Amino acid sequence: MLVYLIIIVVAYFLGNISTSYIIGKKIAGVDIRTQGSGNAGSTNVLRTMGKKAGAMTFGGDVLKGAIAVGFARVLAHYMKADEVTCAYVAVVAVVIGHNWPALLGFKGGKGVATSLGAMLAINPLLALTCLVAFIIIVAVSKYVSLGSVLSICLSPILMLIAHNTKGIWVTLFLAASVVYTHRANIKRLINGTERKLGEKK
Ligand code: G3P
Repeated sequence: MLVYLIIIVVAYFLGNISTSYIIGKKIAGVDIRTQGSGNAGSTNVLRTMGKKAGAMTFGGDVLKGAIAVGFARVLAHYMKADEVTCAYVAVVAVVIGHNWPALLGFKGGKGVATSLGAMLAINPLLALTCLVAFIIIVAVSKYVSLGSVLSICLSPILMLIAHNTKGIWVTLFLAASVVYTHRANIKRLINGTERKLGEKK
């Protein structure tokens, strides 16, 4: 259907707008993907460019996830389509656009902040619960990647508890994509070489 096609294209290219790439170029004149861990995300911007730049990146990536869902909802309303399905289609498309951006040679981020923003716009209670879990895990372990992976894996469990079938599938996608994009981090966590929060090398 046309409405889904429009949402997929708009959300995908919205996801292509990489806050970390823009901030890296504006602040330091570098491609963030050549710095630190090489990831186009807020943890790597924090690591290589400081707290303010990291916070701006996180905010920008969260915002674009939420905007994609907001756009899908408005379009669903005007095109008389199912609002929930449209919103979930936007979640998947914006995260794919962030992780594998055609405009940046398909090398993007790991999708955590964008997933959070999109889910905040759909189910704030679920998203905030995952955010609290993330904060606790990172505070205790000092591993951002561990917090990212475990907190996103909590989301399909919460959807299961809520008996939300569409939500289970979408959050399973988010969890699978975050585990996939963090595969190198997971290997480092297992062999004890993962960078802790604040570590540059
Ligand atoms: O969400 C990204 C974070 O979990 C890990 O980032 O740069 O340490 O690979 P990084």
